[in-house]
Amino acid sequence: MKMKVFTTPDAMQAWAAEQKKAGRTIGLCPTMGALHEGHMTLMRAARKACDVVIASVFVNPTQFAPGEDYEKYPRQFEQDCEKLEKEGVDAVFHPEPAAMYPKGFGTYVTPDCNETKVLEGARRPIHFRGVATVVTKLMNITRADRAFFGQKDAQQVAVVRRFTADLNLPVEITMVPICREESGLARSSRNAYMKAEEKQAATVLSRSLRRAKAAFDAGERSAKKLVEIAQEELRKEPMARVDYVALRTFPALQEADEVLEPSLLALAVYIGKTRLIDNVILGGKA
Ligand code: PAJ
Repeated sequence: MKMKVFTTPDAMQAWAAEQKKAGRTIGLCPTMGALHEGHMTLMRAARKACDVVIASVFVNPTQFAPGEDYEKYPRQFEQDCEKLEKEGVDAVFHPEPAAMYPKGFGTYVTPDCNETKVLEGARRPIHFRGVATVVTKLMNITRADRAFFGQKDAQQVAVVRRFTADLNLPVEITMVPICREESGLARSSRNAYMKAEEKQAATVLSRSLRRAKAAFDAGERSAKKLVEIAQEELRKEPMARVDYVALRTFPALQEADEVLEPSLLALAVYIGKTRLIDNVILGGKA
């Protein structure tokens, strides 16, 4: 069956309703496009778990603050469609901003919880409101039974789990492991902003996480020490400017002095002008 492309919420919702009527389960993979292997791991997980797979490709304006990279964010819809079709995705939802946020739009989902206030939330105050709003809309438009998110954005997973639980949304959330390049660099649409030399420097992020993880595996449980180990490795790369390195419980994202439950070691680092994030989960099953 040829992959369907929908550009209006009504047409997408009508098709999804037909699928539901036929008794099929629907898996949603929300993306902003410029698709890479990391996104494809979400499609494969959804393909395995659900009868129907819907990918969304939408650069969501409400999650970008003025001065962030909304305008410059890479857009390559035709290439994206080729990749999605190869993975056996059934339908793509690709709306214009005006179809998602028509004149008069005024209802936002604003998670007011610890998960949105720390780490990325502390630096990007409107970001998670935009994510929660668009993800809720996408879940309703696609009638999703399950939705797939990457651990690459682990805090996003924590936030999505929080608001879907708080609002009793009947959607099961699956977190898919981080997909990396051979160099260790976590795949990201924003890697396209970097020159070769910067991409090489950016491997310091995963290296520092690996060092901290090795210390954890060898028995280190002090949050302070584990953060220090990661920072020490980051300092070795002159092109890296650290925004934060932090250890928090996962998925509640509470502070902890010791790693006694699943914890997220997360970092945000500028390489040149590009801001990159990466993380590792230590201990337990998240
Ligand atoms: P985007 O950055 O396009 O990412 C879409 C999904 O792909 C997210 O769940 C992200 O965590 C996952 N992903 C990206 N790189 C990955 C990697 N290297 N390994 C595994 N998964 C990876 O995240 C967003 O878009 C938006 O905030 C969105 C949820 C679509 C809402 O607008």
